[in-house]
Parts: sequence; structure tokens; C-alpha cells
Amino acid sequence: MVKYLSIPLCLFLLSCSQQEQPQTEVKQEPTADKVVSQQMPALHIQPARYDLGDIKEGEAAIATFIVRNNSKQAIELVDIQASCGCTAAEPDSYIIPSNGFTQLKVAVDTTAKQEGIKKAVYITDSLGNKATATLTFNVVSNPHLKMGAVKGIFDGQCASCHFQPLKAVVEPSKLYDVGCAMCHGEGATGAYAPDLRHLDTQTLTTIIAQGVGKPQMPGFAMKHGGPLSEQQIHDLAIWIASLP
Ligand code: HEC
Ligand code: HEC
Repeated sequence: MVKYLSIPLCLFLLSCSQQEQPQTEVKQEPTADKVVSQQMPALHIQPARYDLGDIKEGEAAIATFIVRNNSKQAIELVDIQASCGCTAAEPDSYIIPSNGFTQLKVAVDTTAKQEGIKKAVYITDSLGNKATATLTFNVVSNPHLKMGAVKGIFDGQCASCHFQPLKAVVEPSKLYDVGCAMCHGEGATGAYAPDLRHLDTQTLTTIIAQGVGKPQMPGFAMKHGGPLSEQQIHDLAIWIASLP
């Protein structure tokens, strides 16, 4: 009988002690503070692990870490190493005052890298303390990397995004979003390629159909090797010319 009784009693005590916990913590504030600083290593990189998510191949993966000196004297960072030559780690300052910090910029060259990447950074200070942190990211393929190898945006693999999707689109605003916005910006306000809002319908019709003689802006009319019908170009030109 005693055994059976003791179970609910235990549960009761447990729930009581859980509720009281926050109060106990408040009372012990000074000691809790001490405990935290004791647990912190003298040299410390935050965060210990940084995930950048998806990065396009060829683009730099860059993250900024914080290096903390939790010791009672100023330190100097005497050694900074990365797990591979493709990784550069540069602190804002090599000297860190007592209880101070500096930023550590870590950049990884993602050329010819694929999928899940993990890079470590190791630092050592003048007191011999060591700290490490890791940077992770996922390299996704970048269709723009080998741009020099093709004639233009309608060729090769480029066509899957810059040609094919335009063919079936009827509504001019949608056509613009699918085929032009990636270069001329939202609402034709300009981005990589120029603002189009100053052009009249006739000029737009001609240029869209024939292009400007550049691989990035070939003629979009079918008779010039492009994906668009005369009707699509006509409607698109009217729509762009009507933009505010
Ligand atoms: C998977 C779809 C896709 C493929 C394939 C693709 N592009 Fe793009 N392209 C885009 C998108 C989306 C943008 C808008 C900018 C961005 O998001 O990178 C763009 C933008 C561009 C730009 C404007 C500059 C820039 O980078 O923003 C150029 C020039 C370009 N593409 C050319 C090409 C060429 C040439 C090829 C073939 C080698 C190609 N694209 C393949 C989707 C694609
Ligand atoms: C891959 C990028 C890209 C795409 C996609 C693209 N353009 Fe262009 N466009 C350019 C570039 C680059 C120029 C020329 C800029 C220069 O000559 O300095 C240009 C020029 C133009 C011009 C002439 C601008 C002027 O001021 O003379 C017009 C009009 C134009 N584009 C319309 C369009 C339309 C409409 C679409 C969609 C059907 C489109 N472009 C798609 C890159 C692009």
C-alpha cells in the first residue's frame, strides 16, 4: 500500500518543486551570474554553428561570427585557421579587450562545390586559449555560372527559364513577369537591364521583336529565333507603354 501511495505523492512533490523553480532562481541571482561566467570558456566564438542555407555555386558564402574574450585581460588572436584553403577568416581586430569582442568575417569560395558543405574555423589567442566554430551551407547549382559558354539566353540550358516558359503565356503582365522582370525589374523600373517606361509602343514592339544585338537581349519574335508571337509582342508593348 505504501508503494502505491508514494507514486502520487512523488508526482505532487515534483510538480511543486517545478513551480517553485523560478522563485529560487531569482533569489540566487548573484550566484547564477557567477556560474554562467565560470561555464563560459575564456575564448568563445558565437554562434558555434552558423547555417547559411542555400548558396548558389560560384557565389561567396559569407558569415560574421562574434569572438568573445571572457578573460580578465586583453588578448591577441595569434592564430586563425580554416579547414580549407577556400575559406578566408578575417577579424575586425586582432586585439580583444577583457570582456570584449570582435567580429570575425568568414568567407568561403563556393566555386566547383556541391551540396552540403561544412567548414570549420579555429582560433588561438595569446594566452593559449582555443575556440572553434563551423559554417554550414548547401550549394545549389547556378545556371548563370557558365554564361560565357553560350550564345544567348535562348540557347542550351538557358532556354528552360528564358525561352520555354514564355511561349504559352497570353496575359501581357504575366508575360512580362515570366520573361522580362528578371532583367528589367518589377514593373519595368530597371534592374540588371534598363528602365523601359520611357519608350513608346512602336519602339517597344520593334526592340522586343528584334532585340538589341546582345546575347542578353536577343530578338524575342519567332522569326528572329525567339519564343513570342507577333500578338504576344504587340500586347506586351502596349502594356509596358501604359505603365506609370
Ligand atoms: C533555372 C532558371 C534559369 C536558367 C536555366 C537560366 N537563367 Fe538566367 N535568370 C534566371 C533568373 C530567375 C534571373 C533573375 C536573377 C536571379 O534570380 O538570379 C536570371 C537573370 C539572368 C540575367 C540577368 C543578370 C543576372 O544574373 O541577374 C542574365 C544575363 C541571364 N539570366 C542569362 C542567362 C543565361 C545566358 C543562361 C544560360 C547559360 C541562363 N540565364 C540560364 C533564371 C535562369
Ligand atoms: C537576360 C536579361 C534580359 C531579359 C530576360 C530581357 N532583357 Fe531587354 N534588355 C536586356 C539588356 C542587357 C538590354 C540592353 C541594355 C544596353 O544595351 O545597355 C535590354 C534592352 C531592352 C530594351 C531597349 C531599352 C532601351 O532603353 O533602349 C527593351 C525595350 C527591352 N530590353 C525589352 C525587354 C522585354 C519586353 C523583355 C521581355 C520579353 C526583355 N527585354 C527581356 C536584358 C534583358
